[in-house]
Amino acid sequence: MGSFPENRMRRLRATPTLRRLVQETRLSVSDLIYPMFVAEDVDERREIEPMPGIFQHSLDSLKSEVEAVAGLGIPAVLVFGIPSHKDEVGSQGYAPNGITQQAIRAIKRVQPELAVVGDVCMCEYTSHGHCGILLDDGTVDNDQTLELLAETAVSQADAGVDIVAPSAMMDGQVGAIRDALDDNDHENVPIMAYSAKYASSFYGPFRTAAESAPQMGDRKGYQMDPPNVNEAMREIEQDILEGADVVMVKPALAYLDVIAKAKQRFDTPLAAYNVSGEYSMVKAAAGNGWIDERRIVMEILTGIKRAGADMIMSYHAKDVAGWLAEER
Ligand code: PBG
Repeated sequence: MGSFPENRMRRLRATPTLRRLVQETRLSVSDLIYPMFVAEDVDERREIEPMPGIFQHSLDSLKSEVEAVAGLGIPAVLVFGIPSHKDEVGSQGYAPNGITQQAIRAIKRVQPELAVVGDVCMCEYTSHGHCGILLDDGTVDNDQTLELLAETAVSQADAGVDIVAPSAMMDGQVGAIRDALDDNDHENVPIMAYSAKYASSFYGPFRTAAESAPQMGDRKGYQMDPPNVNEAMREIEQDILEGADVVMVKPALAYLDVIAKAKQRFDTPLAAYNVSGEYSMVKAAAGNGWIDERRIVMEILTGIKRAGADMIMSYHAKDVAGWLAEER
């Protein structure tokens, strides 16, 4: 040690100013996307039990929430609609006046500058809770589902959405949606593809929030198997070839290696989804006084960015935006 004084790593850690100078990763409010839930049968906003601080909004309470989000400088929200009527074919997902389409219009009316990302899937709208059309044997029919996903994306674009985000994990969904958007005068609507979306238990609290748990079976027949990373690269490559403008890895925390590998391999903007279960774990521990919520959340989101994410969807986004504003 003493014979290599030039190797002293601690010199640049000595003061806050020096640490600031050599800081390699800087989380910014511009990196954040805030997910929001809007439910058709809600009059007053309703807190989601496993996700303290996150609500199912009414069309009305949504407006004040997006004002707050925009006021904090967050550039985008991700919208999930929860219809009161669910059926086998998820018809409220692509209904021109479905709850999601109404929410998109409401947000664009009060905050035209805020980018609205629409989640394009069927599980929030189907009575069985699967992400597509169910066959008699309980599997999801890929190609029938593609048609409905394309219709959903077009209906969201008609309502004024800024970006569509297909999350059903059907093969060919990005290409089918790109074709449908182009055929319907929406050539300029980008696609943020949930490309490497794993069959994860970290979505548990979201399924409570979106009332979208599968009534039987699971999603392992379409979402990715958690042990796989090479397969994630093939999914991402496929989505880029089909026309994805942004690709995503989801969840984030247990998949930082997937984010890092994707960032190394592809130049397409990369999003990471810090999902519901990751949020619930932090909130539960913080609620018990076991961890320092602010420092833990900043460390987690900085870690996701350091791994390679260009943007992060997170239920912590409002808190983080507030903390970042205080820091400067
Ligand atoms: C819709 C969808 C899900 C999430 C985002 N879009 C649920 C699922 O696939 O089961 C999960 C988000 C979260 O856990 O925060 N398919």
